[in-house]
Amino acid sequence: MIPYIKGPIAKQAHVAIPESLYEEEYGRRGFFGRYAHLYRQHPPVSWTRIEGNLKPRCYSTKNRWGEQLDYPRERFTYLHNDDLKVQVVGIDRQPDYFFRNADSDEVYFIHQGSGDFYCDFGRLTYSTGDYIVIPRGTVYQFVPKNPTKFLIIESRGEITLPEKGLLGQHALFDPAMIKVPDPEAMPKFPAQDEYRLTIKRCGEYTHVYYPHCPLDIVGWKGTLSVWQINVADIRPISCERYHLPPSAHTTFVSTNFVICTFLPRGLETEDPLAVKVPFYHSNIDYDEVIFYHAGEFFSRSDVELGMLTFHPQGIHHGPQKSAVARSKDARRTNEIAVMIDARQPLHFTGEADSAEFKEYWKSWQKP
Ligand SMILES: [Fe+2]
Repeated sequence: MIPYIKGPIAKQAHVAIPESLYEEEYGRRGFFGRYAHLYRQHPPVSWTRIEGNLKPRCYSTKNRWGEQLDYPRERFTYLHNDDLKVQVVGIDRQPDYFFRNADSDEVYFIHQGSGDFYCDFGRLTYSTGDYIVIPRGTVYQFVPKNPTKFLIIESRGEITLPEKGLLGQHALFDPAMIKVPDPEAMPKFPAQDEYRLTIKRCGEYTHVYYPHCPLDIVGWKGTLSVWQINVADIRPISCERYHLPPSAHTTFVSTNFVICTFLPRGLETEDPLAVKVPFYHSNIDYDEVIFYHAGEFFSRSDVELGMLTFHPQGIHHGPQKSAVARSKDARRTNEIAVMIDARQPLHFTGEADSAEFKEYWKSWQKP
C-alpha cells in the first residue's frame, strides 16, 4: 500500500516530527492495520472540558488488597466485557477450599508476594512478577507465604502465545523458559473429613465435596497445562532509532484481546530526532488498560504503583508534556506494566467507579 501524503509530515513515522507539530497515529486493528499519521498543531489531549461519559479513566487499587473477601470465589472486578474481566484481589491465608473456573481461562499476575500454587498438574512456587496462566477447568489453590496481591484477567477464550513471525521462536522469551507444575513436588494435604471444591459455571457457584483431596494426581503428560513465566525472563525488543508500537511487547493472546508487558529497556538514543515517548493515539479499534506494576513511568507523572488506567476507544491519550521534556536525556526506562488491549468496549463496575481518580482526564494539562 502506498501512503497518500498531504502537507508537512514525518516520512519515517516517529522520527523528525516537523517543528512545533504533534504526531498522532490513527490506525485500525491496533497497530497492524491501515493507518494515517496526523500532524496537529496541538496535542489531541489538550481539551479544556469533557461533557459525557467517554473519558480516560484511572483507578486506584490501594485499598483493595487488604480487604477480606471469600477468595478465590470473590475478587474486585474493575472492568469487563463478554471476552474478559480485569480483577484485583489480595490474599494473606490459605483458602479453605479448592477452586475450578469452568467459565474462563485465568491469567494471574503477581503484583507482590510469594507462596505456593497447587493444581491438577502439581506444584509451582510463585513470586512477584510472575504470570501464571490457568486453563479453564483446572482445580487450583494459591497458598501465600506472605501477603499476595493479584491482578487477574479472566478470559472467555483460550490464552495462547503470540506468533513471533520474523523475530523467531525465541524472541521475547524462549518457550523453554515456561515452567509447568510438578506433581512430584506436591505436599501431602492434611487429612480432613471432607474437602470442598467450588466450581464456577455460567457465573454460578456449586460446591462439590470429596472424602479425599481433589488434587490427587501423581503424573501427567500432554500439551495443555498451567504455565508460569516471570517478567524477569521476558526480554523485550527495542530499537535504538525508532519507537516500536506497544504490539511489539505482546505476551499473551486471547479471543478479542491481547496482554502486553512493558519492561525495562533501552530508549531510542541513536537518532536525536527519534521520538522516545509513546505517540498520541485514540485506539480506534481497542480499549486499553494498563496496570502499573513497578519502576518509574516516564510517559506519566503521579503514577501510584498498582493503579489501573482505562483509555477507551474514541478518545485520545499519549504522553504528558513533561514526559516529552524528560525523555530528551533519558537513555533507559525501568518501568514494568501490564497492558490489556480489548477489541470490544469494556465497561467499568461500581467498584471501579468508587476507586476512580476523577480528575485523571485533566492530567495532560499539567505543565
Ligand atoms: Fe495507548
